[in-house]
Amino acid sequence: MDNTWREGLFEKFDGLVQISICEATAEVPENNKLLRCFQFIRAETVSLGDYCWNGECANCRVWYKTDAGETKSALACRMYVEPGLVITRLSDCLKCDLQ
Ligand code: FES
Repeated sequence: MDNTWREGLFEKFDGLVQISICEATAEVPENNKLLRCFQFIRAETVSLGDYCWNGECANCRVWYKTDAGETKSALACRMYVEPGLVITRLSDCLKCDLQ
């Protein structure tokens, strides 16, 4: 696979971590913000999606479960991925782009 498109796009990572996105399992680059991880999964749609990438549009909002079992929301362009992260809901924009 040609990985040249990835150069400079991602923060340095040595491996992938497993997360859950609305009950589907995905492997994404460690040490990266969630929106980059989504771009890793669906490069074509997320790269061209309606995202400001700097915390202003809120089109990248996700809802996730904390270790204490609470549901919290965050902006995927601001939040770093954690191994085992459980995302329970996506913004309409992300839902569409990650289909
Ligand atoms: S992409 Fe606009 S707030 Fe995250």
